[in-house]
Amino acid sequence: METIADAPNKEVKGSSPPDKKLTVVFVLGGPGSGKGTQCANIVQHFGYTHLSAGDLLRAEQNSGSENGAMIKNMIKDGQIVPSEVTIKLLQRAMEESGNDKFLIDGFPRNEENRAAFESVTGIEPDFVLFFDCPEEEMEKRVLNRNQGRDDDNIVSIRKRFKVYINSSLPVIEYYNSKGKVRKIDASKPVEEVFEAVKEVFTSLDEKVRQHRDIFGRCIRRKKFRNGATKCSWMRCILPS
Ligand code: ADP
Ligand code: C5P
Ligand code: MG
Repeated sequence: METIADAPNKEVKGSSPPDKKLTVVFVLGGPGSGKGTQCANIVQHFGYTHLSAGDLLRAEQNSGSENGAMIKNMIKDGQIVPSEVTIKLLQRAMEESGNDKFLIDGFPRNEENRAAFESVTGIEPDFVLFFDCPEEEMEKRVLNRNQGRDDDNIVSIRKRFKVYINSSLPVIEYYNSKGKVRKIDASKPVEEVFEAVKEVFTSLDEKVRQHRDIFGRCIRRKKFRNGATKCSWMRCILPS
């Protein structure tokens, strides 16, 4: 399996330097599970850029784009917008950020999203942060969100839960089968959820630190007979 560590083509197509290695974390969980809330905390503590697919689609809808009406109707109905549209928005935002560490929130939402992103960008996530929360709690949170969203009403939320179960959970299961899911109990208060989130990101940072030399290079890469060098830790993102 190819990972960010050993794939030099992990730049966002278009503008990044050819050897730029990206760290990508997909942040998944049902509507109202707290993805946006926790991403804001992760940004503050760990220097990631937060890209919410839903926020990007809402901004595109409000920008007067030719896709505006289609996006509006699909969001109101809880349907997943065609990947082509969402991936273009994500790629543009990644390029414009100038960062190399991304939290991609609310994406991939279905198998089409997942496969298209991988084939268009060549990026596989480092890991998937999964906010696990009971439906009643998510429903309560969404109905109290008060951000003026068209889809935070009981009719839309029921449709969104169905789409989540039928289309999004299988994507989480797919990554789980690859050992990439970090599951968090998202039913707890915000601060407690963030403690668990911090564990995931701190241990990642710590592992990176432990096998870095004073020049920031990986010290665990081994040389193979064919001349290639590779680190045994699949999440290694350090240059050799
Ligand atoms: P998502 O991005 O997953 O849809 P949000 O982060 O927007 O979820 O959270 C939905 C609503 O629930 C917001 O009003 C937020 O303030 C609230 N919220 C988020 N996390 C928690 C939590 N752990 N406990 C209680 N309320 C929460
Ligand atoms: O993640 P969020 O709750 O903000 O998403 C709101 C809506 O945006 C979704 O219900 C869906 O209609 C749309 N969306 C999408 N594809 C994604 C993410 C969100 O179509 N990958
Ligand atoms: Mg959100």
